[in-house]
Amino acid sequence: MCGIVGYIGPKEKKEILLDGLQELEYRGYDSAGIAIIEGSNLHQFKAIGKLENLREKTKNYHSEGFGISIGHTRWATHGKPTELNAHPHLGQYSYVVHNGIIENYQALKEELQSEGVDFLSQTDTETIVHLFEKYHNEGMEPFEAFKTTVSRLEGAYATLLISEVAPDTIFFAKNGSPMLIGFDGNEVYFASSDTPIIGKAKEVYYLEDGEYGYVQAGEVHLFDKNGEKSFSKQTLSADKISAQKDGYRFFMEKEIYEQSYVMTETMMGRVLDEHIKLDELEEGFFDTINAIKICACGTSYHSALTAAYLFERLAKIRCDVEIASEFRYKEPLLTKDTLFITISQSGETADTLEALKMAKRAGLKSLSICNVDNSSIVRESDAAILTRAGIEKGVASTKAFATQTMVLWMLSLYVGQVKGTITTETLRSEIDAMRHTPKALVVTDTLHARLHRLSKRYLHGHGFFFIGRDIFFPLALEGALKLKEISYLHAEGYPAGEMKHGPIALADSELFTIALMPKTLHYEKIKSNVEELSARDATICAISPEPFELADDFIQTQHSSHPMVEFFEMMVVTQLLALEISVRLGNDVDMPRNLAKSVTVE
Ligand code: F6R
Repeated sequence: MCGIVGYIGPKEKKEILLDGLQELEYRGYDSAGIAIIEGSNLHQFKAIGKLENLREKTKNYHSEGFGISIGHTRWATHGKPTELNAHPHLGQYSYVVHNGIIENYQALKEELQSEGVDFLSQTDTETIVHLFEKYHNEGMEPFEAFKTTVSRLEGAYATLLISEVAPDTIFFAKNGSPMLIGFDGNEVYFASSDTPIIGKAKEVYYLEDGEYGYVQAGEVHLFDKNGEKSFSKQTLSADKISAQKDGYRFFMEKEIYEQSYVMTETMMGRVLDEHIKLDELEEGFFDTINAIKICACGTSYHSALTAAYLFERLAKIRCDVEIASEFRYKEPLLTKDTLFITISQSGETADTLEALKMAKRAGLKSLSICNVDNSSIVRESDAAILTRAGIEKGVASTKAFATQTMVLWMLSLYVGQVKGTITTETLRSEIDAMRHTPKALVVTDTLHARLHRLSKRYLHGHGFFFIGRDIFFPLALEGALKLKEISYLHAEGYPAGEMKHGPIALADSELFTIALMPKTLHYEKIKSNVEELSARDATICAISPEPFELADDFIQTQHSSHPMVEFFEMMVVTQLLALEISVRLGNDVDMPRNLAKSVTVE
C-alpha cells in the first residue's frame, strides 16, 4: 500500500525521504520516487521495484541547504507499476504525491485534456498537479490554486504538492487517507504514518478529514471548511515497534481492524457499477477454459474452498480444490482446458509453488492470487491478481484471507461475465453486496468488548467444533485454524450436517460448539444441526443475526441480504474470539510457537 514522506528544512533531504520510505516498506509497494526543490534547483528520481533501486539511482546526489521535499512508495492501483506511473507526478513546474483514490479523476482528466493538458501516466493522481497548475496559470496565488484544486477532488486522498512557484512551501490536504505532520523546531515533516518520523520529529499533529493547508518558514497554516484553524500538537513516541502497531496491542489485532479499509483497496478500479474489471487478465484469457482447479495451503486453502462454491454457483464452471502438499504426490490427471489457480499470501509457499510448476509442465494455463508482487508464485504464473491487503505481519493470517476471498468472489463474477453464464440482474446484486462488505468488516467497540468478555468462558474444555454449511463450512475451518494457531487449544472445523455421522459422539458440556448460523443460507438446516448438539448438552456459542434460544452464548450479527456479507462479518467475529482467547492465555499472538509467516520448505 502506498506511503508518503515529506520534509521542509535545512537537513539533507534525500536521506530523510529514503529512510522514511524504508520505514513504510513493510506495507508493500512496487515503485518509489522523490522530488526535492532547493532554491531554484529541482531534482526528481523514480525507480520501480525495491527502494534499493532508488538508492542506487540517487547515490551521486546530495541536497544542500534549505529546501522542500516529498517522497512516495506506490502500490499500483490505476495503471501498472512503471516509472511513469510512480509518484511524484510532474506538471510543468510542480510535483505531487498522493495516497488514496480520486474517484472523479476520469471526468477531471477529460476536462484537462480538452484544455490541451497532456497526461504522462495512467494514474488518478496526475490530475491533482495539472489542476493546480491550471488554476495558477489562470492567475491564482499558489495557495488559492491548491485550495481550489482540493475543492474539486472527490474520493479519498492524502496529498503533498510542491512547486517551483513557491519554493519554500509544501501544500497538503487530507481526506479519508491518513497523514500527519511532525515538528522539530522549525523543521516540519509529513508522513502517512508515524514510523518514518520517529526519532526525527518530537511532536506530531494527526490531520483530520477535510483539513488542508501549507507550511512555510516552520509555520503550519491549517484550514478546514470554516477557514484557518488552530491545532494542538502531541508528543511523538520514540518507540518504533509500538508505532507500527498504531496503538493496537498486536499486529494481528491491527490487521483485523484494517480489513474494512483494505477490502476497499482490493475492490478499487475492479468492482464497477455494472461489471467486474480485471486488467490483469488479457481478453480471451478464459476462452479455452472449461474447468478450474485451485491449489493452496492453510488459510489460503480455506479461501479456495469458499471460492469453489462461488465458481460453480455464480459462474457455472466446474471447480475443484486441492491441498498443495497432497496434490504434488497424487499423480493427478490434468487436462489443458483447466485453469490452474494458486492462492498464496506470501507467494513463496514451497508446496504451492511446486504444485504450480507441475501444472505448468502439464501445459495448464495458470493464475495466481497473491499479496506480494514479484514473489516466486506470481513470477511463475501466466497471470496474477494481487490482493492489495498490504503486508501482513501477524503470523495468523486475517486480512490476507479476507482479500483473497474477495478477489475470488470477483473472479467468479468475472468468469460468469465473460462466459455469459451470469445474468445482468445477478451481477448487479452481487456487486451491490460486494460494496456492503467494507461496512460488514468494521470492528465496533461493542463487538470487541463482547468478545473480550465472552473469551474467559472458553479457556478450557476438551475441544472446539466450528460448524457451518455451504461457504460457512470453509469459514468454520478457518475459524478453527485461527483458534488453534494462537491459543494452542484443539479446534476442528466441520460441516454442520456431518456432525451426526461421528463427531457428535464427543458432545458433552465441555465440548464447545461455535455455530455459524447465517440467516441468508440454509438457516433452518443448520438450526436443526445445532439443536442436535444442544440436546447432547454441548456448549453452544451461536453467531447469527437471529437470536437462538438454545445458545449458551450468543453473538448477534447484522441482518444482511447476502451470504457473503454475512460471511465476512462472521469471519471478523471468529478472528476476534481467537485473539481474545489467546491474549487471556498469555500467548504470543503475533508469533505463535512453531509457526512461520512464509513456509518455504516442503
Ligand atoms: C494461517 C496461515 C497459514 C498460511 C499457509 C499458506 O494463519 O497463515 O495457514 O495460509 O501457510 O501460506 P501462503 O498463503 O503464504 O501460501
